[in-house]
Formats: sequence, C-alpha cells, structure tokens
Amino acid sequence: MVGWILKKILGSKNQRELKRMMPIVRRINELEAPLQNLSDEALRAKTAAWKEELAKIPALEDQWKRLDEILPEAFAVVKNAARRLSDRKHSFTVCDQPMVWNMVHFDVQLLGGVVLHRGRIAEMATGEGKTLVATLPLYLNALTGRGAHLVTVNDYLARRDAEWMGQLYDFLGLTVGCIEHDQEPNVRREQYAMDITYGTNSEFGFDYLRDNGMATTREQQVQRGYYYAIVDEVDSILIDEARTPLIISGPTTISTHQYDKWKALIDQLVRKQTMLCNRVASEAIEKFEQGKIEEGGRLMFKVKLGQPRNKQLLRMMEDPDKRRAIDKAELSFYADSRKEELFALKEELFFTIDEKSNESDLSEQGRNFLNPDDPNAFVLPDLINEFTEIDLNPNLSDDEKERAKTERQQHCDAQAERIHNISQLLRAYCLFEKDVQYVIEDNKVVIVDEFTGRKMPGRRWSDGLHQAVEAKEGVQIDRETQTLATITIQNYFRLYQKLAGMTGTAETEAAEFHDIYKLDVNVIPTNRPVARKDHNDHIYKTRREKYNAVINEIRDCHSKEQPVLVGTVSVEASELVSRMLKREKIPHNVLNAKFHMQEAEIVARAGQPGTVTISTNMAGRGTDIKLGNRVAERGGLYVIGTERHEARRIDRQLRGRCARQGDPGASRFYVSFEDDLMRNFGAADRMTRIMERFGLEEGQELEHRWLNKSVETAQKRVEQRNYLIRKRTLDFDDVMNMQREVVYTYRNETIDSEEPRPLIYEVIDEAVPAKVKEYLAAERDEEPNYTGLLHWVNTTFPLGLTKEKAQFETRTVDENAQFLIGKIKDAYERKSSHEEPAAVKSLERYIILNAIDRLWQEHLYAMDALREGVYLRGYAQKDPLIEYKTEAYDMFVELMANIKNEVLHNLFRSTSNLQAFENFLATLPQFLLREHAPTAPSANAPAHARQPQPVGAMAGVAADGDGAGEMTLDLPVRRSVPKVGRNEPCPCGSGKKYKNCCGRVA
Ligand SMILES: Nc1ncnc2c1ncn2[C@@H]1O[C@H](COP(=O)(O)OP(=O)(O)OP(=O)(O)O)[C@@H](O)[C@H]1O
Ligand SMILES: [Mg+2]
Repeated sequence: MVGWILKKILGSKNQRELKRMMPIVRRINELEAPLQNLSDEALRAKTAAWKEELAKIPALEDQWKRLDEILPEAFAVVKNAARRLSDRKHSFTVCDQPMVWNMVHFDVQLLGGVVLHRGRIAEMATGEGKTLVATLPLYLNALTGRGAHLVTVNDYLARRDAEWMGQLYDFLGLTVGCIEHDQEPNVRREQYAMDITYGTNSEFGFDYLRDNGMATTREQQVQRGYYYAIVDEVDSILIDEARTPLIISGPTTISTHQYDKWKALIDQLVRKQTMLCNRVASEAIEKFEQGKIEEGGRLMFKVKLGQPRNKQLLRMMEDPDKRRAIDKAELSFYADSRKEELFALKEELFFTIDEKSNESDLSEQGRNFLNPDDPNAFVLPDLINEFTEIDLNPNLSDDEKERAKTERQQHCDAQAERIHNISQLLRAYCLFEKDVQYVIEDNKVVIVDEFTGRKMPGRRWSDGLHQAVEAKEGVQIDRETQTLATITIQNYFRLYQKLAGMTGTAETEAAEFHDIYKLDVNVIPTNRPVARKDHNDHIYKTRREKYNAVINEIRDCHSKEQPVLVGTVSVEASELVSRMLKREKIPHNVLNAKFHMQEAEIVARAGQPGTVTISTNMAGRGTDIKLGNRVAERGGLYVIGTERHEARRIDRQLRGRCARQGDPGASRFYVSFEDDLMRNFGAADRMTRIMERFGLEEGQELEHRWLNKSVETAQKRVEQRNYLIRKRTLDFDDVMNMQREVVYTYRNETIDSEEPRPLIYEVIDEAVPAKVKEYLAAERDEEPNYTGLLHWVNTTFPLGLTKEKAQFETRTVDENAQFLIGKIKDAYERKSSHEEPAAVKSLERYIILNAIDRLWQEHLYAMDALREGVYLRGYAQKDPLIEYKTEAYDMFVELMANIKNEVLHNLFRSTSNLQAFENFLATLPQFLLREHAPTAPSANAPAHARQPQPVGAMAGVAADGDGAGEMTLDLPVRRSVPKVGRNEPCPCGSGKKYKNCCGRVA
C-alpha cells in the first residue's frame, strides 16, 4: 500500500516536472519554423555568434544563465540542422558502413534534451533515440568552449556515435573527437581539444589518473577540465561498474602475503571437507530413505554450511520434501535458543562458508589441521585484555611495558594477516568458480563481470582475493604490483561541474542516483505507445526442466519464423543454451560482449524472421534491433530471459530490447528453484509449500502473478544489499578521494608554476619551523634539544653551522626558525645562482613532484593495508569505516609533512648539472670540503646527463658534520621514548610504515 502511494506521488512528481518543461518544447518548435528559411551559412553563423558571446562571459555561473536563456533557440538550431540533413538524404559512413541521415528530433527527444541539460538522468526506453537526444545539450553546452564529454560503454559505440552525430556537429560548425583505446597522448590531446568528445568511461578515467598522477609537465597532460558530461547507459556505469575501481599499478617493493605458502594446505583442507560433506550427504540419503526426514534435513544443513555448492545438496533441493526438511533444519538452527547447537554443528566441519555474506570461518578441526602445533595461530588475541594485564603488571618498567605491548601488537598483526590469507583462500576455493567468475588467460586470472559476462582485463579483486585465486589456480601470483593511482568511476564523474545521464532503466535505482550522485531521474514517455506483452514468469522445480522448456519455446518460435532474443545472466548459461540448441539443430548466434563491433552487427539483425540470438545482458547494448519483413505480423521480437537477474533493472533492460518505437513484441522469464537468486533469497519455504500443494509433475511449470511478486521481493532484497555494498565501497573511497584531490591539486600547481621558487620557499617556511619546534619546544621537564637540531640542520643543509655560530640558546623558538630559514634560503640562492635558470626551475619542479609521487604511492600502499586491517578490527566491535577515517587522516597529515621534509632533504642534494655542482662546492665553507670530499655526483649522475637528476651529493657533505657527530638516530625530542605504533611512519625517515621498515619482524 505504502509502495503504491509512494509511486503515485513520485509518478505525479515526474509528471509535474515534465509538464513544466512542455512550454520549452513548444517554444523550440516555434523557433524552429522560421529557421527553415535561413541559408546554411546563416544557420551555422549562430554557432559562431554564441560562442563568441559566451567566451566573453568569465564566470561559469553566468555562462550557465545565458545557456538557459538561449536553450530554446539553440535546440531549434540543432533540430533544424537535423531536418536539413534529413531532407537532403545526407549520406556518410559510420564505422565503414554507408548510412543516410533520416532523423529529426521528436518532441519527446527535445524533452529528454532539456532534462540532460539540467544535469539529470533521462530515462528513455530502448530505441527511443538517446544518441540523437544527446546532441541537443552537447551542442548547447559546448558553446562555452569548455569541452563537453559523452561517455559510452564501449569503444565501438564511442566511435559509432562520434561519427554518426558528428554529421550534425560538423554541419553546425562544432568539432567532435573520440578517445579510443590505443591512441597516443598527442592524439588524445587533440581529441580533448575538440568542442565535443566521445569516449568510454575507462578511457576518461585512466586519462585522468595519468594526467594527475604521472605526467610531470603540462605538455604531457591530455585532458583540459571536467565541465559537462553525459553518461550513456548511466545505470551500467554508475551502478554495475561501481564495485571495481580503475587502478593503474606498478611494481612494488613490499609484499606480505603468504598465499603460496598456504595454498597446498588449503587445497588438502578443501578436499577433506568435500569428502566429509559427501559422506554426510550419503548418510542423509539413508536417513531420508528410512523416513527419518528430520535427521536427514539436519545432516544436509550441515553440508550446506560446509559446502554450499555441493552437488548432492543441489540435487536434493529439487525434491520438495527434502528441500523442506533442509530449510526447516536451517530455520530452527538459527533460532536464538539453539545457538550452541549451531556452533557444535559448525565444529563438526573443518570450516564454514556463507554464500550470502561471502564469509568463511575455520573450526577447531580446521585450525588443528592447518597448524597442529598451535591451533591458536588462527585466532585473534584479545589485545585489550592483554594490554590491561601488561599495564597492571607491577614487575615491569614503563619501557618494558611499552616493549611488551609492541610485541603483542606485532603478534596480533601477524595473526590477522594469516587469518585474512586463509579466509581469502577459502573463498577463492569454495565460492569462486573458474569460467564463471573468472577465466584463465595467458596465465592470468581475468575477472568476468558477473552482470555482463564481459571480461575485465587489468581489473583486480581487492583485498588479496585476486592473489588468493591466483594461488588456487597455480598461476603467477601478482605480488609485483601495487597501486600507483586509483579512482572509482563514480568519483571520476563527480569531478564534473555538471553531470547528466541517460538510460532505458534508471527508475528502480532512482534513490541511489539521488543519494549518491545527486542525480534526479525523469522518466520520458515514449514517442509511440509501447505495445509489448510482458508475460508472467514460468517457474520450474529444476534447472533442467526450465532449460528444456526454454528450448521448446525457442523451437516453436523458430518454426513460426518469429525472431527470438534469449537473454542470459552469464556466459556459462549462454553456452549451455547454445549447446542445447545445437543438439536440436536450431541455428543461432551467441554474443558474450567480447567483440563489440561484430556483436553490434549481429544484434542489429536479431529482428529478422527466424533468427535466434543468445546474449548476455551487456552484449550488443546500444544497438538498435529493427524488425525484418513481416515479423510484425508474427508478433514481433520475442525476448526470453533464462533466469531472473539479481537486479530488476537488468531484467527490464532485457525486456526493453523488443517492441521499440511502438513495434509489437513480447517477453517472458523462465525461473527455477535452483537458480542462485531463488536459492539464496527466494521465499524458499513458501514456494516449496506451493509446489507441494499443486503436486507438480516433471516438466510442469507454475505461473501466477503472485509468484512474480515473490521473485521480485527476492530481487529487491538483493538490490538493497548490493546498494549497501556499493555505498560502503564509496564511503571508503571518499576518504581517499579527498586526499587524492589535495595531492593532485598540489601536483598540478607545481606542474603549472612558471616560477617554482615560491613553492620551494613555502616548503621551507612551513617545514623548518615545524622541525625547530620538534627539537626546541620542550614540554615541561624536558630540555630543548639544541644538539639534535644542529645535527638535523647539518645533515639536511650545507650550512656548516657550529654550536658557536648557531647560538640557538640565545633565541626563542620562533627566532631560531626565522634565523634558519634566512640561512637556508641564502644558501639556496647561492647554490642555484651557479646553474642555468631554466634548468633550476625544472629541477625545482622535479624535486617537489618526485617527493609527492614517491610518498603518495607509498601512502596508497599503506592505505590498502589499512583498509584490509580495519576489516579485521571489525571483530573487535569497532566500525571499520570510522577506524579507517581516523587513521587515514593521521596518515595523511604525516604524508604531507613527509613530502615537505623530503623536499627539504633533496633541495641541496640535487643539481641540474655537474659543473654547477662543482661551482657550488667551491663556495662551501672550507672545513666541510676539507673533511668530507663529496663523491656522490660523479658516481650517481653521468656528467653528460641532460635531464636534471637528483643526486646524492649531500651524502657526504655534512653527514657527520661539526658538533653533532656523536648522534646516530635522528629522533625528535618528544619521541625520545620510541613509542612508535606499527602503522606509524618509521622514525628512520624512510617514509614507510614502522612495521614494514625497522619494526619488521624477521
Ligand atoms: N527522431 C528520429 N527519427 C527517426 N528515427 C530515429 C529518431 N531518433 C532515433 N531514431 C532511430 O532510432 C533508432 C534507435 O536509436 P538509438 O540507438 O539512439 O536508441 P537508444 O535510445 O540509444 O537505444 P538503446 O537503449 O538501445 O541504446 C536508430 O535507428 C535511430 O536512427
Ligand atoms: Mg543508445
């Protein structure tokens, strides 16, 4: 009831909004009429005039105001240009195919254009011509000269749409470009420089990462800002792709995983479990045969806990009686009063795996098997208790307590790592199937997108799962890579000043679009009424019966010459249907979203009489299926879904493939109780009862609209869960996103700076006082550490200060800072005056960029580790996200300080050429030269090196300089008690985490 009311309100809200836009549509058409009398030149001149006018408006806000004003006329101009091309039967080629222009914008398309211009999502059904709709707002927004982007789902569509719609832009005097996979940077730059640029989401995203994370000069960057983007198939990009971020990775130096070490044992453990489960299943069969239904159910529930995909189990779930007994056992065990029994049951297995929540857990038996000497190796210690005990121990000194705690903490970290490795391996073995979730190609694990069946080379599961699967398959475990740059597609799109989207299916996810992306959905009515018949689902007991029914249905249609499009949820299912059709000698095509262009051609022909096309849901998306001769009288295209998808949206999409533009068409889904969706989320119990009541015969189906409701309820449940998962991923990425913005901004500022010297001085001005404070601003009973400060100064800058010259005691902390700043700048001026000014500038930029890049990458690595780590803390009843946020913040503050310190550190260790360096040395205080002749430059930098290179010139200059030679560790005074957390940066200054550096356990 509530849902219905809600829909009423939402529905009417959409209506109201559209109604308010209708006058604009009328206005566009009014304005278009007189345009028909203009010459081509006069029409085109409008573009130039608007461009010129908008270029004179500096503020974006004001430009937008103006765009709103000219919208009706601008849309009219585009529509009029389309009319001219259509009247002339303008011919051209698109992706090497000849084409003739035959489109003039319909009113609903104008409406869609307005929605897109306003930064919203336009839901328009398949075949409504969204490609053409986008031309309106793209034209309008490109007039600002800021570059408008259209984002598509694959390379083929990007090129097709750019070439196709390019006819219109070209006619109107706007330029259009297209980003493709293997373009060189200079080509890419040209494409971005166009008024309008088409491309895929990953190309846009990777370009962003390369521009901001790797390019070291403006010239190397290809993008020119993020102003307006329309995302085509927006649901697919912002929702389906939301789980795997774009990652650019590179070699890593640190690796901690032990998957290869555990693989053999886990292999055995899984085999033992399989044997155990098979034995239990046989026992269960006996019990069932003896009529001991309850006992049988209990046994099979145990199998379900230990091996959710056990063959026997799946077979038994086909039998209503047994199924019911199993479900009953499950239900009763989850009752609170039986918690202990459930625990005991789990302990009879080696481990348990939960398919729904994707979690695994070792039992005592399992732990014993993995490590007979120390079963506790897989249990996290109770750190808080241990710490309290240490604190209360009167026999320990403060130092000893500290050490004991560090030791316990390290122990805990090692345990956590081990538990994590094992649990990932168990998941890899028990829940991830080869050729379903992934395929092996060139000795690599390639993820197969479960929604689309597309392979996603280059993407990796996070959290060590990918390595676990690599270990399982015995392929090279890619420990050699670490994240160099990463962003989720969502966060990339959030960069745009204005974002819009279009798709055939957004409504069911409207709440998510609104909450996460602030994108509102408007449902645009179709140009002609929809004539599609959506039949009720046919529901079968078993998969086998279901597929037989599907094949029968296809055979019927095929003999009537009605074309059929069979949609599957996975590549595996596509192949199954294909094999069955081959046996029946029914010719058909199979599409797996691998070869976009060829598949588009095949899909385009899917409406011809008698064709049978099998497709995973992504394949051929965006391609128009036109009905062949006399197909309409045979009922149009018939869409068969072989399974309900987890998301209703994907089902709607499949249905929408037929009956475009008022064509006839029909659709039906086939469902069985063995489908994953039904097994995991269906109202299994109720369904089983219904099935019993009807006393179904083999091969007989159930059909009722109430059953559709049950299926839908299951789908809603999964949608909700998936939404939460995506939200969570994004919450985590948000933390990183803020940091990324700060770092990338700093980086770009550096790259762009004509005069980098002020940036260098800024670092000196900030970092030096901070250091001075560390040494001198002593707390209560501590002495200012003058020696330490002097040592730091002399190991970082070639000032040759002595105690006598420094006279730190005579000044306040601030005065000392100012004194040092003056000296350092002075020395720096002297050093650089010996060098080529242009070379110095690029060297300075290089020093900053180098510090940012090196430390940022280490930071990313540490953040990965943190992310893994906080999940383990989840055991300790803490919210991982909050933990992550707090620690990430601290780490970031450290990072920024470290970057500055590194810049300082390299300031005098870098030179643009050797000669200059020698000149500089000649001016150094004589005692420095006498005692420590520098050798580094000649060793590290070849004299002919043109590129400015930082060299270790300071290595010997003043390392053990005057007055401070006795100090070995450069610890700031307040940390004189080494109270270094495992996750804190190592005090040795390496920038690594303590646990990965000096604090590493052998
Ligand atoms: N105004 C129009 N007049 C005539 N034909 C049109 C018009 N607009 C679009 N079409 C045609 O409709 C077909 C579908 O267009 P398009 O592929 O852009 O649809 P779509 O909405 O993007 O569908 P999908 O959801 O499959 O991506 C194309 O053949 C196109 O030529
Ligand atoms: Mg399209």
